[in-house]
Amino acid sequence: MSIRTNYEKWYEGDEFYWGTDPADFCDILIGLCPPSSGKKVLDIGCGEGKDAVYMAQKGYEVTAFDLTDNGIRKTLKLAADRGVKIDAYVDDINTFGTDKMFDIVYSTGTVQYLFDENKKGFFEKIGRITKKNGFVYFNVFVDKPFLELPPDWDIEEKMWKSGELFSFFPDWKVHHIDEIIFEDLSGGIPHFHCMDTIICEKMV
Ligand SMILES: C[S@@+](CC[C@H](N)C(=O)[O-])C[C@H]1O[C@@H](n2cnc3c(N)ncnc32)[C@H](O)[C@@H]1O
Repeated sequence: MSIRTNYEKWYEGDEFYWGTDPADFCDILIGLCPPSSGKKVLDIGCGEGKDAVYMAQKGYEVTAFDLTDNGIRKTLKLAADRGVKIDAYVDDINTFGTDKMFDIVYSTGTVQYLFDENKKGFFEKIGRITKKNGFVYFNVFVDKPFLELPPDWDIEEKMWKSGELFSFFPDWKVHHIDEIIFEDLSGGIPHFHCMDTIICEKMV
């Protein structure tokens, strides 16, 4: 079988590679755009579903996709175990389409899988599917010449340039923006990442 991401193997077992606790940014987004009837969330590259399922538990209608069959299988199981329904399926960040509009769109650890030729079109799509006064959260790994490539760097991942992510949101209201270097233990070998993060609101 030819696979495009090593996560297909890393997600095979019953244990959760990323754990099941939600990322901190989920509560930040909940604070900015609290759940109410019918509010819709899109999780791009949902992995094994820890964030998507948490948002569904908070009351949002959640759509989530990932390139891996194993990730989606575990996302759906986690949702069922926690008594919530989410719309989770296999799709590709490079080519995905949807006819829904969302109040919150987020993607963590996945934007660097966009092929260069798809970056502009992807963020234009994000602009079209985010409702007015909706929020987005994105992060991406960025290249620093003094940091080595992480040991679990994946087949189709590509480092972005520092600040590049921010350039796709010139007309949005920025609520948070940062670039940090942090230590990561994923894959069992301590290593460092540099990451750019943005949270912004669609104003027009
Ligand atoms: C660093 S993990 C983050 C997973 C999840 N967002 C989380 O934080 O737990 C990166 C994810 O991107 C997914 N991925 C890789 N290539 C992809 C693609 N072309 N389209 C969608 N997802 C992809 C992987 O399967 C993996 O789940």
